[in-house]
Amino acid sequence: MIKLENINKQYDLGTAKVNALKDVSLEIKRGDYAAIMGPSGSGKSTLMHILGILDSASTGKYYLEDYDVTSLPDREQARIRNQHFGFIFQSFNLFGELSAVENVMLPMSYAGVAVKARREKAVKLLEDVGLSHRLTHLPAMLSGGEQQRVAIARALSNDPDLILADEPTGNLPTDKGEEILEILESLNRRGVTIIMVTHNPEQSKRAGYVIELRDGAVIKDSAMSGGTNA
Ligand SMILES: Nc1ncnc2c1ncn2[C@@H]1O[C@H](COP(=O)(O)OP(=O)(O)O)[C@@H](O)[C@H]1O
Ligand SMILES: [Mg+2]
Repeated sequence: MIKLENINKQYDLGTAKVNALKDVSLEIKRGDYAAIMGPSGSGKSTLMHILGILDSASTGKYYLEDYDVTSLPDREQARIRNQHFGFIFQSFNLFGELSAVENVMLPMSYAGVAVKARREKAVKLLEDVGLSHRLTHLPAMLSGGEQQRVAIARALSNDPDLILADEPTGNLPTDKGEEILEILESLNRRGVTIIMVTHNPEQSKRAGYVIELRDGAVIKDSAMSGGTNA
């Protein structure tokens, strides 16, 4: 599904340059449940932004199916993000002035779905994540776990093939984090590809594929023979 070849990402801070990703190569297969591990600052979020086509690499190749993603026009990249990817990122906060159901409806409006169908689907998705009693709540009136479940419902609104989740349980108590993980795992069982960043080794053990980053480089890739290419 996804193939990265020798991806480098350099942030230019004027006086200093940060090599956030160094020669990252990996392959995500359709239906994978992949975990990205690594200490803070190791490049996990940078990698997720590149995988989500929210940012581009400095050098290297990104193939999605057989398309060279970097050479696609912006419009086509946006279409892929909207129609094929679902994002559960901490930086992608919910819109504070919109209710839970309106937040979930939003990506469908970009995709041109009619209002009535949008609302029906948003209600259904919120029911699926156990929030049928919170439809008209604003994000500020919801707990952290509930907000994260709204974010999941929103990520699912356009039936993504791939979900990119950056520390989806990071700010949650263990039991609430477990609920989020179970939702993601049930989606994976239905065929949705999951790429999840986690700090938690217990969580990564549940994934079928584990990629470990250190200082921007892949130091462990469970799909590689021998398990390390450091
Ligand atoms: N927009 C940016 N500009 C400059 N440096 C950045 C930017 N984003 C991240 N970095 C740097 O790149 C490195 C990797 O960051 P990040 O991908 O956020 O790591 P992680 O998610 O693993 O904590 C860090 O050294 C960070 O300071
Ligand atoms: Mg991060």
